[in-house]
Amino acid sequence: MLLYIAKMDMKEDQKYLWWHKGVVYQIYPRSFQDSNGDGIGDLRGIIQRLDYLQWLGVNAVWLSPIYPSPMADFGYDISNYTDISPLFGTLNDFNDLLEAIHSRGMKIILDLVPNHTSDQHPWFLESKSSRDNPKRNWYIWKDAKPDGTVPNNWLSVFGGSGWEWDEDTSQYYYHAFLKEQPDLNWRNQEVQMAMLDVMRFWLDKGVDGFRVDVMWHMIKDELLRDNPPNPDYQPYMSTYEQLLPVYSTDQPEVHEIIRKMRDVLDSYDERMMIGEIYLPIAKLVTYYGIDNKEAHLPFNFLLIDLPWDARQIALAIDQYEGALPAGGWPNWVLGNHDRPRISSRVGIQQARIAAMLLLTLRGTPTIYYGDEISMKDVPIPFEEVQDPQGLNMPEKNLSRDPSRTPMQWDDSANAGFTVGKPWLRIDKSFKRENVRIQKNDPYSMLTLYRRLIKLRQSEPSLMAGIYKPVQSDSQSIAYIRHEEGYPAFMTILNLSHRPCYFTSGNVRFTGVIELATSPELEGLSVSDQISLSGDEGIIIRLEQYV
Ligand code: NOJ
Repeated sequence: MLLYIAKMDMKEDQKYLWWHKGVVYQIYPRSFQDSNGDGIGDLRGIIQRLDYLQWLGVNAVWLSPIYPSPMADFGYDISNYTDISPLFGTLNDFNDLLEAIHSRGMKIILDLVPNHTSDQHPWFLESKSSRDNPKRNWYIWKDAKPDGTVPNNWLSVFGGSGWEWDEDTSQYYYHAFLKEQPDLNWRNQEVQMAMLDVMRFWLDKGVDGFRVDVMWHMIKDELLRDNPPNPDYQPYMSTYEQLLPVYSTDQPEVHEIIRKMRDVLDSYDERMMIGEIYLPIAKLVTYYGIDNKEAHLPFNFLLIDLPWDARQIALAIDQYEGALPAGGWPNWVLGNHDRPRISSRVGIQQARIAAMLLLTLRGTPTIYYGDEISMKDVPIPFEEVQDPQGLNMPEKNLSRDPSRTPMQWDDSANAGFTVGKPWLRIDKSFKRENVRIQKNDPYSMLTLYRRLIKLRQSEPSLMAGIYKPVQSDSQSIAYIRHEEGYPAFMTILNLSHRPCYFTSGNVRFTGVIELATSPELEGLSVSDQISLSGDEGIIIRLEQYV
């Protein structure tokens, strides 16, 4: 039996670095804060809002791409890896931002997009200039089949074939995304060296880490073999899903590349790498690498991909925990700029439960900007759609614009985001749903997020303790977090709208409710049997448990 008498001081534990302990916040720079009235967010705007992020309690900020770009894919098509897009500011603005973030004790993570460049990048312009250009082999060029058709059946994630014909040099080039985003040839040593130099450029400036775009795409089958058909394809799915991308993604050689990237990071102090990888758990965890020498945090998208179902989520948490390699650190995320927002997916009441889950599970949480004020997907009229994924497959409802709308700061014009015309329309709810109003509301989503972050950051068990599943059924999930020598916590979440009973099974415990979706419950003593309202979540400070 464990008995806790008093809260102990936080022990300085070198086992845990900033990216183990911290909460990451993703900013989509176009939509965070505009400082110059052009309707597009920028770096000076982010600087203006750092006090807010500090108040919220997050520890690291990840910025979606801010580099020069024709913006065919809103910055994921980079034309210069070592500068800042004039839309967002200058390198000086960036230096000021970096300094302002660091002076607040926070960290900055940049998006690195190594799989592809813009078709306007000088590397590609050279590569396509002639077949014997020294950079020809920096990209994936291939002759047409004898009948003139594409070299293989690979598809673009954004619709259509993955191959684009170049009239001038009479060859196809491969692009996993837009034709304006040609894939680099990572089998080429010069490409590898050039991208590792890009990393060094930003690391030398003091950037704390990278979120690496589509890490599992980076190297392709050397023989460019056809992908097999997907037997589970349904017409509502994106056209890309017609095939299983077994030859165009997740190739064994990718691990060698990631290790090289990791070596660069390891030659600095405490820098880190998050990998964007949409793969099943068993494959995802291989991206930690042998001896954990690849990505520090291969992004875990389980809470984005799974249906909002207590049993399935509880099972997936256990499977993920069980699949992690020794020493591999978990991570969790509810949303990002590519996926529907959590409040739209599960509803606002369950989004509160999701926040509790995100911030009490074991592993680094990443919060998508605006989720902390329960921003919803915003309907964008057809003629205002900007996202190429939405434009290319209009009948499939795949536009990502709805989850990229401007941050709702206050009830002034354009929600305080810009004095100009916002690049994407702002949700009509902004007068009711904004940071300023929610800051002063003890029942708001923002208050809930802030309190959860604070609790997580002040309690070693929640920050770093082990995860012990307690019970789950068709409505609820319960688990304990415990770091030896510190008070343990049990989280019980009702993932349904109906009341439920929780019985703790083999675990006996007593404790006091520390934080609840209904703050009225806080301070109540509880033990083995608890009844919860629909959409209720509680975090119990355990006095004892066996
Ligand atoms: C993943 C990014 O998150 C997404 O926004 C982008 O469109 C693709 N990679 C292509 O870079």
